[in-house]
Amino acid sequence: MTTIISPSLLAADFSCLLDEVKRLEAAGATWLHFDIMDGHFVPNISYGSAILKALRPHTKLFFDVHLMISPVEPYIQEFADAGADLITIHAEATPHLDRAIQMVREAGKKIGVALNPATSEDCLKYSLDKIDLILAMTVNPGFGGQAFIESVVPKIKAIKNMIGNRNIYLEVDGGITDSTAKICVEAGANVLVSGSWLLKHKGDALLGAMKALRG
Ligand code: DX5
Ligand code: ZN
Repeated sequence: MTTIISPSLLAADFSCLLDEVKRLEAAGATWLHFDIMDGHFVPNISYGSAILKALRPHTKLFFDVHLMISPVEPYIQEFADAGADLITIHAEATPHLDRAIQMVREAGKKIGVALNPATSEDCLKYSLDKIDLILAMTVNPGFGGQAFIESVVPKIKAIKNMIGNRNIYLEVDGGITDSTAKICVEAGANVLVSGSWLLKHKGDALLGAMKALRG
C-alpha cells in the first residue's frame, strides 16, 4: 500500500478554505482530514458538519473525518449526510464502542477508531473484522502544532502486527513532519495526517513537502 497523505484542514487559512482545498488537491492530496472538536472530549472547539457540507460539492477528495466528540453516537448520521467518506470515532469517547462502530457502518461509511497516546490497542482486538482504519494519535488530541510523542512508536508497530494481513489502514495524526513521517512509516503507518508542518509550505513548496512526507 502506498503512503496516503491526509492534510489537516485545521491548519488552513479559514478565510479562504476552498482555495486551501484546491491547492492541496493540486499538490496531489487524495484525502482531506477534518478535525471536529467539541470543547468537552477535547479542550478546544473547531468547527462542525457545515464545513464538510459546504466543501463537498467542490472537490472529489476523500473526506477523512476525525470526531473528537463525546457523546459521539447522536452526531454520526449528521456527518455521514454532510459528505464524510470515513468517520473516525475515539475508543475513549464511548462506553459502547461496538455499537458506535455499527452505527457508522449502517450509515454506509468507512469506519475508523482512534486511540489516544495512552490507550492500548487491546480494546480493538475483537473488532478488527469490523473496522477500516485505526488512528494512532501521536499527540493528545485538541490542538494543531503540538510535538510528536515518540513513545507511541512501539504502539504503531504493535498495531501493525495486530492488523496482520487484514485490509485496515493505519493512520497517524499529530506532529507529523518529514522526519516523524519517516519514523511512522517505518513502524507501519500508511496514512499520514499533517496539519501545521504541511500547510505552512506555500506555492510550489507544497508539492515538495508532500513528496517529503511520502518519503
Ligand atoms: C489534533 C488533530 C490533528 C491536528 C494535527 O487533535 O487531530 O489532526 O490537526 O495537526 P499538526 O499536524 O499540526 O499536529
Ligand atoms: Zn485529527
